[in-house]
Amino acid sequence: MTMPETSATTAETAGVEVLRPHAEDAFADELTALAAADDRPRPARWRLSPWAVATYLLGGTLPDGTVITPKYVGPRRIIEVAVTTLATDRALLLLGVPGTAKTWVSEHLAAAVSGDSTLLVQGTAGTPEEAIRYGWNYAQLLAHGPSRDALVSSPVMRAMAEGMTARVEELTRIPADVQDSLITILSEKTLPVPELGQEVQAVRGFNVIATANDRDRGINDLSSALRRRFNTVVLPLPATAEAEVDIVSRRVDQIGRSLDLPGGLEGIAEIRRVVTVFRELRDGVTADGRTKIKSPSGTLSTAEAISVVTNGLALAAHFGDGVLRPGDVASGILGAVVRDPATDRVIWQEYVETVVRERDGWKDFYRACREVGA
Ligand SMILES: Nc1ncnc2c1ncn2[C@@H]1O[C@H](COP(=O)(O)OP(=O)(O)OP(=O)(O)O)[C@@H](O)[C@H]1O
Ligand SMILES: [Mg+2]
Repeated sequence: MTMPETSATTAETAGVEVLRPHAEDAFADELTALAAADDRPRPARWRLSPWAVATYLLGGTLPDGTVITPKYVGPRRIIEVAVTTLATDRALLLLGVPGTAKTWVSEHLAAAVSGDSTLLVQGTAGTPEEAIRYGWNYAQLLAHGPSRDALVSSPVMRAMAEGMTARVEELTRIPADVQDSLITILSEKTLPVPELGQEVQAVRGFNVIATANDRDRGINDLSSALRRRFNTVVLPLPATAEAEVDIVSRRVDQIGRSLDLPGGLEGIAEIRRVVTVFRELRDGVTADGRTKIKSPSGTLSTAEAISVVTNGLALAAHFGDGVLRPGDVASGILGAVVRDPATDRVIWQEYVETVVRERDGWKDFYRACREVGA
């Protein structure tokens, strides 16, 4: 079956800088260096060995001195299990609360294993079966009847035909009957096309990485038939404040560079403060374990801490002296914490008055919080 080629995107052709390059482009140098240094056995159609894929995700230094930056910061075993799963005939399900890097890990795994992270199905309540199986080009269909030329492959179908990694984002948002179209694909490794009396058989190297979030409301359960086809790997929240500060500063540094913001990372103290506030509110208790506090309705994930700090840096760059200060993060924190104006605002005010106000070295931050309306 002829498949549409994974050709260069329009922006690349035109020589324009894209806003967010795919992982395989952004980290092309690292992937090339890893492939050159990698002498371990590679599963069929894998660009790298499982060891090299794990090194790409977790970071390390190659014998020739090339530094591989860590993409995922967290327990090594989690990545090892995820990579190993992809080399088996079971699919991989990355599960976790929002902002635990499920999408991020999925993209980097696909980039390292198949060299292509773009075979992606975005799950929503309106995802139709065609997005997972195939659809038709109606002009062709009406003019010539069902034929291979009239068939429009889904990303999953292309991944099957080419032995690549397909990604399904937010699997549990997809209606249950549409989810079930994955069952034959994952267990029989085939996709029947009854209209043509044909089937597409998965080539070795094909696998699926799905992500799902176990917190959101309005999600559909995974049927047990489907769940059995997946190995589930749970991505945890960062275990310690230090780990979380590390994640936030690394990502902010990368994002900052791609937004060309000056200032760098002199604001590490401010990052530590954002992370402390988020962790305390999330855990419902202060870091020293002494004071109980109420948790607001928002998730206050690491991902949100990253965006509060990035926005703060932009404020500092454009309207301050380039150094991140309490006033630059206060309004971002307020916005992240107060999702439900009625209950969250009270919780935030209580936190500001009982915790922030009393803490040594937090006077400036207390003043900044008061200014933005706590
Ligand atoms: N442990 C971690 N290591 C590295 N980066 C992390 C980690 N946790 C969060 N991040 C960062 O958080 C950001 C958001 O992650 P991502 O969008 O993948 O979350 P998600 O789990 O898919 O969330 P959602 O459930 O909302 O889709 C990414 O930029 C990622 O770099
Ligand atoms: Mg996601």
